[in-house]
Amino acid sequence: MTLQQKIFWLRLATLVGLCLPAVELAWRWYSGDLDPRPVTLATHATGDWAVVFLLLSLAMTPARALLDWMPLVQVRRRIGVAAALYAGAHLLIYVLDQKWDLIVVATEIVKRFYLTIGFAALLVLAALAITSTDRWQRRLRRNWKRLHWLVYPAAFVALVHFFIQSKVKIGEPAFAAGLFAWLMLWRVLPAGLRTRYLGLVLLALGATLATLVFEAGWYWMINGIDPSRALEAYLDPELAPRPAQKVLIASLLVIAAVAVRRLAVAANKRWTKRYIQSSISSP
Ligand code: HEM
Repeated sequence: MTLQQKIFWLRLATLVGLCLPAVELAWRWYSGDLDPRPVTLATHATGDWAVVFLLLSLAMTPARALLDWMPLVQVRRRIGVAAALYAGAHLLIYVLDQKWDLIVVATEIVKRFYLTIGFAALLVLAALAITSTDRWQRRLRRNWKRLHWLVYPAAFVALVHFFIQSKVKIGEPAFAAGLFAWLMLWRVLPAGLRTRYLGLVLLALGATLATLVFEAGWYWMINGIDPSRALEAYLDPELAPRPAQKVLIASLLVIAAVAVRRLAVAANKRWTKRYIQSSISSP
């Protein structure tokens, strides 16, 4: 398969993958599977997918470097745009929940801190999605990179929104924050370490520790729960897997994927070399 064909199939598969959650949600809503609280469930589902696609778009640069597979860059923008669209749908469903009363919506956004920061994150994601085209990139030149750097604070703020609205059940936002920590730590690692196994092991430890700090710190600051109690939960097998354990598993899976990819590339190279040698030596 040529590189162009690989890019075509990757783009198509990404497009299908990005649309599937929306199609599934629409179908479940239509068939009554979300009853009796379709609006609440749809708000949660669209918020979750916005975060998933935001993190996935941030994962494309490390994935390309680690797997040494250039086509991944070709789908980064559309995943980012999908994150903005799911966040937009999330707001629309919220507006629907408020019976399309825009005054109430605006008042709520101003009044409630978690909605204010959610709105700020949405504005940034919308600006990034609109300016994601080649035309805008040419028009904004160096400012394009500066503007698109805002994806990091926007993701951070979206995660704080996720934490606040989760109240005491912060397992999912803590896991998402741990993955975000991995993605940010990868970017601040010295360039020489980013693609080495030592760097990946350090990242696994750093992201796991960061998740523990987020989880215990949040319970302590917001709920006044002693951080040691949050850590004790890690000793109870019935509560497994805890967010930091999930982040550790995800980080180890990254190392395994990189190892498999490198072994496959090395085997492919050796096989090609042998094939060429045998073709030259045969009469
Ligand atoms: C104006 C903008 C926004 C509004 C009005 C809004 C509103 C809401 C509301 C009402 C909830 C449910 C709260 C509850 O049930 O107690 C929620 C949850 C959530 N929102 Fe937002 N949000 C906004 C922006 C965003 C953005 C930009 C993201 C992500 C990129 C996001 C991600 C989430 C997530 C992940 C949840 C939790 C879903 C779950 O618990 O499964 N929101 N939001």
